Amino acid sequence: MTAENERMPALFTPFTLKDVTLRNRIAVPPMCQYMAQDGLTNDWHLAHYTSIARGGPGLVVVEATAVSPEGRITPFCTGLWNDEQVEGMARIAAAIKAAGAVPGIQIGHAGRKASANRPWDGDDHIPEGDPRGWETISPSATAFGGGLSRVPREMTLDDIARVRADFAAATRRAREAGFEWLELHFAHGYLGQSFFSVHANQRTDQYGGDAAGRSRFLFETLEAARAEWPERFPLTARFGVIEYDGRDEETLAEAIETTRGFRERGLDLLSVSMGFSTPAAKIPWGPAFLGPVAERVRREAGLPVASAWGFHTPALAEAAVAGQQLDLAMIGRAFLADPHWTYHAAQTLGVEHPARVLPAPYAHWLERYRPAA
Ligand SMILES: Cc1cc2nc3c(=O)[nH]c(=O)nc-3n(C[C@H](O)[C@H](O)[C@H](O)COP(=O)(O)O)c2cc1C
Repeated sequence: MTAENERMPALFTPFTLKDVTLRNRIAVPPMCQYMAQDGLTNDWHLAHYTSIARGGPGLVVVEATAVSPEGRITPFCTGLWNDEQVEGMARIAAAIKAAGAVPGIQIGHAGRKASANRPWDGDDHIPEGDPRGWETISPSATAFGGGLSRVPREMTLDDIARVRADFAAATRRAREAGFEWLELHFAHGYLGQSFFSVHANQRTDQYGGDAAGRSRFLFETLEAARAEWPERFPLTARFGVIEYDGRDEETLAEAIETTRGFRERGLDLLSVSMGFSTPAAKIPWGPAFLGPVAERVRREAGLPVASAWGFHTPALAEAAVAGQQLDLAMIGRAFLADPHWTYHAAQTLGVEHPARVLPAPYAHWLERYRPAA
């Protein structure tokens, strides 16, 4: 893709994990489209993911895909809880791969944030009693708050075993669909995060209490997925390691310890994110603000890391990767605005042959193409 002796910015160097090599350090994080019916993908998803992948990122992670109907955030989320859903996902994985990116997928359970309206329909819970909604479950019977105030049912030990089995089955289906990168959703206030978070988990049994207890569900779910996922493909998780709730040092120290536990159980990379477990969080939004947090997790937990949130300019992404804060820079909304973000980043960062970061059918023609002003 690039000339032999050309000096490439760090962002454009390949990244190998297990038997998978990404063509660069640019990854598109999962972004829900809220366009599925009964968990089934359709032409929208195929068009969207194809468009994103052909623009040159190394990795495209398909949106949060529910492991069970109750695990959907909204009625319009994708799913892998039945075999019928595999076919549409297989087309998406194949299209991403045909465009030269590695096809990844995030699987998850929305926990107490499930049964919600789409962001553009209110982003709040579907009212109780409305037939479009469903019963929500969580480690404890406490609501998130704000627009998401439906009180979930506290999970029984049978519920925990069932959800773990649902994660395992969805992992098997992700493998059958042809994905080569799996991300477990343990972030953003959904079910995995809720077990870890003191804001959501008040259990007094073995799944609550201290950080070890609050990590038990995550460890068991990871082990269940590990058993179904090929050793040759990366197994990753997205984890909220900080809440910005005033308890940050304690949460981060616990999360790093839990991440070491993930590593010991076969996790290959952590996507460092936030907890979103309380509406009272005061998030210090700003360019690359999670960079130092990700760097600390990388160093202290001894795992490669990715992160999103504010690495959206080529300079910010390059600085984070070159400065060894991140192994992969995840670029979300900027890819919605510009599916050719990779090409434009190569131009901005002074890559000698920017067109060569694109697949050959584009690269060949754009190599010497200079449209008249
Ligand atoms: C439309 C949209 C959908 C999202 N869906 C998910 C999701 O399915 N899973 C997830 O972990 N994060 C999700 N996120 C968060 C993104 O993965 C990413 O972290 C966020 O957009 C910040 O990165 P950015 O500043 O580059 O956009 C979503 C964000 C957006 C804008």
